[in-house]
Amino acid sequence: MYDSIVTRPATWADLPACLEVEHAAMKANHYLADVADLYFNGTVGDLTVAEVDGKIVGIGKLTLLYDGSAWLETLRVDPSYQGNGVGKAIYRRYLEEAAELNAPALRMYTGVKNAVSAGLARRHGFTIHCTCREMTLRLDDSPILETRFHRVGQDTACRLLAPLADAWRGFLCFNRTFYAMNEPLYRGLAYEGKVYREEASGSILVAGTRFQHKKALHVALVEGDVDRCIAAAKTIARERGIPQLTVMFPYDNQVLEEKLASLGFETAPSDFISMGMYR
Ligand SMILES: CC(C)(COP(=O)(O)OP(=O)(O)OC[C@H]1O[C@@H](n2cnc3c(N)ncnc32)[C@H](O)[C@@H]1OP(=O)(O)O)[C@@H](O)C(=O)NCCC(=O)NCCS
Repeated sequence: MYDSIVTRPATWADLPACLEVEHAAMKANHYLADVADLYFNGTVGDLTVAEVDGKIVGIGKLTLLYDGSAWLETLRVDPSYQGNGVGKAIYRRYLEEAAELNAPALRMYTGVKNAVSAGLARRHGFTIHCTCREMTLRLDDSPILETRFHRVGQDTACRLLAPLADAWRGFLCFNRTFYAMNEPLYRGLAYEGKVYREEASGSILVAGTRFQHKKALHVALVEGDVDRCIAAAKTIARERGIPQLTVMFPYDNQVLEEKLASLGFETAPSDFISMGMYR
């Protein structure tokens, strides 16, 4: 334990030190450089840094989502400083900030095998609310089935998506951000043009990106004719020059997993959990 761990909001000048922490803490999945502008200028909620003896050794972002709940992300502690309360100091700041922002709930995600991250969340009163499987498809130049999906407006999105919340265990994912399914989400997604329907087949597709817009198109929900939904997602991705589709869905939806596998999707090596608490 350190005598003093100071937490404070990061500034742009801290970015290089934050990137060092990210790279030291994670073998892969480095994305802070790509999202820094979004984190500093496009979200409500701090990127917090934790300092020991004036050195930045930990980082963690809190982001308010469409429904005002707090999403905790990019929690990283330099391995040389792990196990000494830095992560807990960032969690304390998360809880304070969530109270300041009047967030009704706090949530995070981690890998099912990440016992430390899950233990840290559990220690602060979080419980698991959802386990998800991720599948990805690299796109090629082969012809894509023609579809007629169109964006829907906010009221239609509410009417279409609300009945599907149970089947999706109450969460939709973009860029591994777990959004609770509720009216503010449906309206926000429709406003951003991420909710599509094909009248003739009665199919629904929710797809888009939260960040890293050129890396993967995130398919957050498919309903109806999955072949047609995926064809529509491929078309959107091709139009935007995106080389990959990523789908996250409840881990026990075997029917969807088999369907996606038959379309060439590959399953990630392990699943993800999202944990949360209500204030
Ligand atoms: C997860 C991480 C941020 C934790 O930071 P840290 O500074 O080492 O954490 P702290 O020392 O403050 O807290 C440790 C707490 O984690 C929990 N914990 C640690 N090891 C654990 C284990 N094996 N099983 C369950 N819980 C565990 C405990 O609650 C412990 O506190 P306690 O012993 O007082 O109860 C850090 O390990 C890290 O950066 N990992 C790599 C990136 C990462 O996994 N990020 C998380 C989300 S993807």
